Amino acid sequence: MKKGLFITFEGTEGSGKTTQLHLLAEVLKKYGIPHIVTREPGGSRLATQLRRWILNQLDYKLMPRTELLLFLADRAQHVGEVIEPALQQGKVVLCDRYSDSTLAYQGGGRGFDLKLLKVLNGAASNLRPDLTVLFDLPVAVGLKRALGRGKGKDRMERESLKFHRAVQRIYRETARKEKDRFIVVNAGQNRELTYHEMLGKLIERLPLRKKVKKRG
Ligand code: TMP
Repeated sequence: MKKGLFITFEGTEGSGKTTQLHLLAEVLKKYGIPHIVTREPGGSRLATQLRRWILNQLDYKLMPRTELLLFLADRAQHVGEVIEPALQQGKVVLCDRYSDSTLAYQGGGRGFDLKLLKVLNGAASNLRPDLTVLFDLPVAVGLKRALGRGKGKDRMERESLKFHRAVQRIYRETARKEKDRFIVVNAGQNRELTYHEMLGKLIERLPLRKKVKKRG
């Protein structure tokens, strides 16, 4: 049975979610709250290979169905190998992308049927995040930021503005439908303001609440 807390971080390209996730991990560390930081694709041993094939092997034409099934294979392994054991130990799991990325990217971006994707997400794992933080910002601003990192574009970053806008539409729709699970943060602000907004919205729902109040 699950004892920990499962928090996922989502957003379009260049939303700064990874930076904010690590800032939150620092807070948990400071308050001695056991946690792990992980990501998709990429959290299991198998994932290092999968991530390369899905995102970086650009000379290889990956069929959209293959891409979808590889993301799901990555998730099935990641949940069983990394996430569930950590939750069973009572840890907070901070996960950079999860099933909402599949809905947004493969649904919005690639055009797969959302109902089908929900079934397939369920086949990969039944584990639902307790909380999902969505970092929302204008798509063009995020893409410019991502490009500014100078790492070169991966398979998704090469897609059109239209693709990324469709990704954002699904994120926003999902957040509207699942208000109990989602926290939406304005990621168009600078790093510090984004951080404060995230922390302010999260703090009421995190186990560090009492400790922070005691100290403050
Ligand atoms: P990131 O780690 O830099 O966020 O890159 C991961 C990329 O993979 C990002 O473009 C979103 C994409 N992705 C999907 O398309 N579907 C998925 O299910 C997941 C987990 C990620």
